[in-house]
Amino acid sequence: MKSSTGALSHLDAEYSDPTALQVRIDTHRRFSEKADDPQADVLAAINLTGTEYLADIGCGDARFLASLAAAGHQGPLVGVDTSATMVAAADVIPGVRGILADATRMPFDDNTFDVLTARHMLYHVPEPAAALAEFRRTTKPGGIVSVVVNRPKSCPRLRELITAHAATYGIDPADALPYTVNAETLPPLMNEAFGTATLLRRDNALVFDSPEPLIHFAASLFTFDGIAPDNPHRAAILTDLTADIEDWFTYHPGQAWRDPKGYLVATATIPD
Ligand SMILES: C[S@@+](CC[C@H](N)C(=O)[O-])C[C@H]1O[C@@H](n2cnc3c(N)ncnc32)[C@H](O)[C@@H]1O
Repeated sequence: MKSSTGALSHLDAEYSDPTALQVRIDTHRRFSEKADDPQADVLAAINLTGTEYLADIGCGDARFLASLAAAGHQGPLVGVDTSATMVAAADVIPGVRGILADATRMPFDDNTFDVLTARHMLYHVPEPAAALAEFRRTTKPGGIVSVVVNRPKSCPRLRELITAHAATYGIDPADALPYTVNAETLPPLMNEAFGTATLLRRDNALVFDSPEPLIHFAASLFTFDGIAPDNPHRAAILTDLTADIEDWFTYHPGQAWRDPKGYLVATATIPD
C-alpha cells in the first residue's frame, strides 16, 4: 500500500511542473537516431477535417492542442489532465478548454467526442482498462480513439544506471511512477475495449555523442525511477551519475551512447 500511494504522489509532484516533461520531449526530438514524431503519427491516424470535437487526455503542456488551434481547427478542443498546472496551460490557449479530471472518471456525457487522443499517458493510469472504457463511453459511435504508449524498457541502459545509483541511497524501486501498460500489453486491451485497433510501431534509439545532454535527460527521468522531486538525495545521485556518464565517454573516445526506444500508436474506431 505504501509504495503505490508514494508512487501516485510522485506522479502529482512530477507533473506539477512541466520542465522535466519538456526536457524529455526536446531530447527525443533532438537526439533520436531516426526522425521521431509521435504527434505527426497521431495526426495521420486521426485524419482531422478541422471541425471535430476533440479531447486530448493527459494533455501535458498542451502543445498538441496549441498546434491544432494554431492550424485553424474549428471544432471544440479540450485538454484533460490530473495536473492543475497542465490544465492551466491548456486553458490559456484561445479555443481550448482545460479540464481537471482523471482519465477513468471524466465529467463528460456519453458519446461527446468525435476524436479522443491519449498520448503517452495511459501507462500512468493504475487501471488502464478502466480509462479505455471511459474513452469508449465518451466518444461517439464512428468516432476515433488514438493511444500512444512506449515499448517495454525504453532506454534500458540509462534506466538501469539511474536505478543502480538510486539503490545506493536506499530508494525503493516500488516508488517508481506507475507504469501499467506498454506497446506489448496495449493491443489486447484495445481489442477488449473497441473490438479491434490499427497498430503503428516505431522502433528507434536515442544517440548521444557527448555527456551533457545525456545527463540532462537522465535528471528528467529521476521520478520515473522513484527519485521524487523532493528527495534529499537527488543532488547527490545526480553528482554520482554525472561522474559515471563522463567516465563512460572518457573511456570510450569516439563512441556514442546508444539506447533503444520506441512507441506504439494504437487507433480504434468506435463501432456503431
Ligand atoms: C508523459 S506526460 C504526456 C503529456 C502529453 N500527452 C505529451 O505527450 O506530451 C503524461 C501526462 O498525463 C497526465 N496524467 C497522468 N495520469 C493521469 C490520469 N489518470 N488522468 C489524466 N491525466 C493523467 C500527467 O499529469 C501528464 O500531464
